[in-house]
Amino acid sequence: MHMHRYEKWWLTLGTGALVLFLFILGVSAFHQGHKPPSAKAFINPERVDATAPFDQPGLKEVTGKDWDYELVIVASAFHYEPGEFTIPKGSKVKIMATTKDVIHGFEVAGTNINMMLEPGYVSEYVTTLDQTGEFLIVCNEYCGAGHHTMKSMLKVVE
Ligand code: CUA
Repeated sequence: MHMHRYEKWWLTLGTGALVLFLFILGVSAFHQGHKPPSAKAFINPERVDATAPFDQPGLKEVTGKDWDYELVIVASAFHYEPGEFTIPKGSKVKIMATTKDVIHGFEVAGTNINMMLEPGYVSEYVTTLDQTGEFLIVCNEYCGAGHHTMKSMLKVVE
């Protein structure tokens, strides 16, 4: 088949642009491992319920560590476990959170606590809670039909 010179040129350019585009897409999506900034450790997302400390979500008082409490959170569509928790004011808390299914957010409204929870990763955040009150925890990553109903509550008490 005879091809006009310009036709060939455009075909080459088009194919080249497509290859370059796919390459950039592939590199940005997979090359860096696509790791959320707050993630410090790995977990098998299918075995969250059987993996410590996520087999027992909730607040635990700890000793001999740089923090007073550990708060273990398990997110799944469309709720958090625990659904509500109370922490004494002035406590230094290490929050450890993960998800069993899709990407969820963990934003404590009115504070700096804002994490992305990705399957396979443990997101951590250490903070001192010096303000009493009730803080709504919301999911700020779109995760499906029940996204807007996904919440928990942090109560900081005297
Ligand atoms: Cu979970 Cu949006």
